[in-house]
Amino acid sequence: MAQDKSTSDRMEKIVSLCKRRGFIMQSSEIYGGLNGCWDYGPLGAELKRNLKDFWWRRMVRERDDVVGMDGSILMNRQVWVASGHEATFSDPMVDCRNCKSRLRADQLPEKDGKRQCTVCGSLDLTEPRAFNLMFKTYVGATEDESAITYLRPETAQAIFVQFKNILEVARKKLPFGIAQIGKAFRNEINPRNFTFRSREFEQMELEYFCRPEGGLELLEYWLKERLKFYKDIGISSELLHIHKIPPEECAHYSKGTYDIEFDFPFGIQELEGVAYRTDYDLTQHQKASGKLLEYFDEETKQRFVPHVVEPSAGVDRTVLALICAAYSEEMAPDEKGKLETRIVLKFHPRMAPIKCGIFPLLKNNEKLVRQAREIVKILRPHMMVFYDESGAIGRRYRRQDEAGTPFGVTVDFDTIGENGPTNEGTVTIRERDSMKQERVPILELKSLLLDRID
Ligand code: GAP
Repeated sequence: MAQDKSTSDRMEKIVSLCKRRGFIMQSSEIYGGLNGCWDYGPLGAELKRNLKDFWWRRMVRERDDVVGMDGSILMNRQVWVASGHEATFSDPMVDCRNCKSRLRADQLPEKDGKRQCTVCGSLDLTEPRAFNLMFKTYVGATEDESAITYLRPETAQAIFVQFKNILEVARKKLPFGIAQIGKAFRNEINPRNFTFRSREFEQMELEYFCRPEGGLELLEYWLKERLKFYKDIGISSELLHIHKIPPEECAHYSKGTYDIEFDFPFGIQELEGVAYRTDYDLTQHQKASGKLLEYFDEETKQRFVPHVVEPSAGVDRTVLALICAAYSEEMAPDEKGKLETRIVLKFHPRMAPIKCGIFPLLKNNEKLVRQAREIVKILRPHMMVFYDESGAIGRRYRRQDEAGTPFGVTVDFDTIGENGPTNEGTVTIRERDSMKQERVPILELKSLLLDRID
C-alpha cells in the first residue's frame, strides 16, 4: 500500500527512536542483520515484559476459569501433520523472471490484468506456488526424513495436545481455558514494517474450551474482553478497528472470526485474531493420535469433544502498537523558556519500561546525592526506577520523556532542609504528560507511585 510522506516520516522517526533509545534493534546487526529478526534492548525488554505480565495477570491470575502452561517449541512432527500445518500452512509465491525476486502473489498489484513485480515492475512472473512457512529442522544426529520436525508456527497446538493432561490436573469444568505465551516462527516471504511481520515473534494465546452451543456467544464475550484489555494498556479505542471476517474468508473450520486491528502509521493492520475454531483441532489430534480428547459431563453423563474460542495476540505487534500509540512530538519550553520539540512516549504507567526517574538537582552536592540514592533504595524493590545525575535537570527530564517514564522525582535544596524546615523531607514529582510538579513527603512516595502505576 502506498504511504504518504508524513506517515512514512512518522514510522521512520519511531524506528530511529527505538534504536537510539534501545527499545528494538536489528538482530545480528554487526553482521548485517538477519531479515525478520529483532532484538529488544533494555527499554524494549522491560516494555515487552510489562505487556506479557499484564496479559498473564488479566487472562490467567485474575480468573477462576483459566490456567496457564508453557510448552516446548519443538514438538513431534505428527502434531503439525494432524493440525494441517504441514500440508497447508503456506503462502502463494511467484518468482520474477526478470529480476529474480521471490514475492507473495496475494500482495502484488496488477497491471493490464497481470500481476506486477514490485521490485522491477516486470509482468513476467511465474505461476503462484505454495511455500510452506514453517522452519524445518532435524532432531538428533541424523539428518534424514525420520528426524524432521518444525519450529512451532503458533503456540496453540501445544495447548491442544496437552488438553487432556491439563483437564485432569486442573480439575476444571467447561467452559475453561488454557493460556500460553511463547515464541513462534514463520519463514515469512516478505518480513516488513519493522517488527510487524517478523520471522521470529511471540504470541499470547488462550484456548477457551466450551460446549458446542456456547461457542458463538463466547466469541462475542472474548472480543469484548480483549478490547477492554487494550484500553487497560493505554491503547485508545479510536486506534482500534474490529474487522469481522466474512464467512467465505474464514478458515473452513471456523464458525466466526474477528480481527482486532490497529491504526499503525503504515496502515490499519491486524493485532489479534479472536476465532471460534469449533472442535476442529481436538478432533484432528484425537483422530491422528488415537487418544481420546473428550470431556465427560458429570451432569448429563455425555462425552464430547469440546469446542474452542481462541483470542490470539502477537506480543511484538502489540509492543509496536504501544510505541506507535505513545509516540508524540510537541512544542515545549526549555529551561531558558525557548520553545523546542519535545519527544514523548506517552505510555500508560502500567506499560512504561521505567516507572520513575530519580534525580538529585546537582551531582556534586553530597547531601542531594545521598538522599536521591536513598529514594532509589526505597523504590527499587517495588518498581523499575532510573537514577540520573548527569546534565541539567531539564535535559534529564527530556531523556526520560523519550523513554516514556511517567514520573520524575527530584531531590532539591528544599528536600534537604537548606531553604528552611517547611519542605524538608519532601521531593517534587513531575508528571510526564502535563509536566506539572507537586511536592510530596518522601514517606508517601512509594504508596503514591504504586497507586499511580497500576
Ligand atoms: N493460533 C492462531 C494464530 O496463530 P494468526 O492470526 O496466524 O493466528 C495470531 O496469529 C497473531 O500472531 C496475529 O494476530 C499477530 O499478532 C501475531 N503474528 C502472526 N504472524 C506474525 C508475524 N509474522 N510477525 C509478528 N506477529 C505475528
